[in-house]
Amino acid sequence: MEHRITLRVDGSERSVTVDARTTLLDALRERLGVTSPKKGCDHGQCGACTVLLDGRRQLSCLTFALAHDGDQVITAEGVGEALGDGGLHPVQQAFIEQDAFQCGYCTPGQVCSAVGMLDEAAAGHPSHVTDDLVPPETPGVPVPLDDDEIRERMSGNLCRCGAYVNIVAALRGTAVAPREAS
Ligand code: FES
Ligand code: FES
Repeated sequence: MEHRITLRVDGSERSVTVDARTTLLDALRERLGVTSPKKGCDHGQCGACTVLLDGRRQLSCLTFALAHDGDQVITAEGVGEALGDGGLHPVQQAFIEQDAFQCGYCTPGQVCSAVGMLDEAAAGHPSHVTDDLVPPETPGVPVPLDDDEIRERMSGNLCRCGAYVNIVAALRGTAVAPREAS
């Protein structure tokens, strides 16, 4: 059975007909022609399909489009317009400056994931390697992003070309301010 849903994709309302099995990734790429999210593995293992869904990073191959009727989807194509000043998002600019891509296939997912993880760190969300956990009485203190934090938080995004060193360098430059000593 098919359903008509509306997604807000990179600032535009887009209506699309999907069945219950259509992934968000396929709805974007195959139905709406939004090809910025890439299909790498289609199994939640590579991160190439990462988008920002209502501001949180999401593997679009692992969620059904039908579950997101009315939701906001931001892809790497629209991230500068939606979250920057209308030009390139600072993360995209940093990727260019640090030469953080080779073939570029993983890059849209890396960019979306980076924007999401910067927000998570800025909001004080710890990662597996965060050893200075914020006491419950002071939530929201940004977690400083050293290289270990960046690697851990970006570990869901694979790059076959091995541009990792430059990706870390790019994100080092966009990291939030260090956490204040308590
Ligand atoms: S295509 Fe979604 S994680 Fe690989
Ligand atoms: S730049 Fe080629 S896969 Fe990442």
